[in-house]
Amino acid sequence: MNYSDKVMEHFTNPQNVGEIENASGCGTVGNAVCGDIMRVYLDIDENNVIQDAKFKTFGCGAAIATSSMATVLVKGKTVQEALEVTNKAVMDALDGLPPVKVHCSLLAEEAIHAALWDYAEKNNLVIEGLEKPVTDIGEHDHHHDLVEDED
Ligand code: FES
Repeated sequence: MNYSDKVMEHFTNPQNVGEIENASGCGTVGNAVCGDIMRVYLDIDENNVIQDAKFKTFGCGAAIATSSMATVLVKGKTVQEALEVTNKAVMDALDGLPPVKVHCSLLAEEAIHAALWDYAEKNNLVIEGLEKPVTDIGEHDHHHDLVEDED
C-alpha cells in the first residue's frame, strides 16, 4: 500500500500522544468493523480556544497518523473552528490516504467531535453544527482500560 511521506512521518513519529488530566473534553469512538478505538482529550480555555489536544489510539497506522494530524490541526482553534477539521481536511493535510484507509480518518474526526460534545455537555454550551458521533462509546471516566499495556 502506498502511503504519503506525511502519513509515514506522523505514523512513525506521532504528535500529541498521551492524555490530559482533567481534560475539558474527552471523547472515545470506535470503528465497529475493524475494532479500532480512538480517544481524544482536549484542553479548552475560557474563550473556547483549544489549548492542547492529545490522543490515544488502538488502531492501524492510518488511524495513528490521522489522529496525530487531527490533534495538530485543532490546537489553537476555537471549538467552532475545530469543526472544520473534518476527515477530509486531515487527509488533505496528510497528502491523502489510500482509499481503503479513508474510514480510519473518520475515526479521528469523530473522536474530536466526541471530545467537543463532552465539553459542550459539561459546560451547557451549544456548538453549532456539532452532532454527537454515533460511534461514541463513552467511557470518559475509565481512562485506564486503554492504557494498561503501557506501563
Ligand atoms: Fe481500523 Fe484503520 S483499520 S481505523
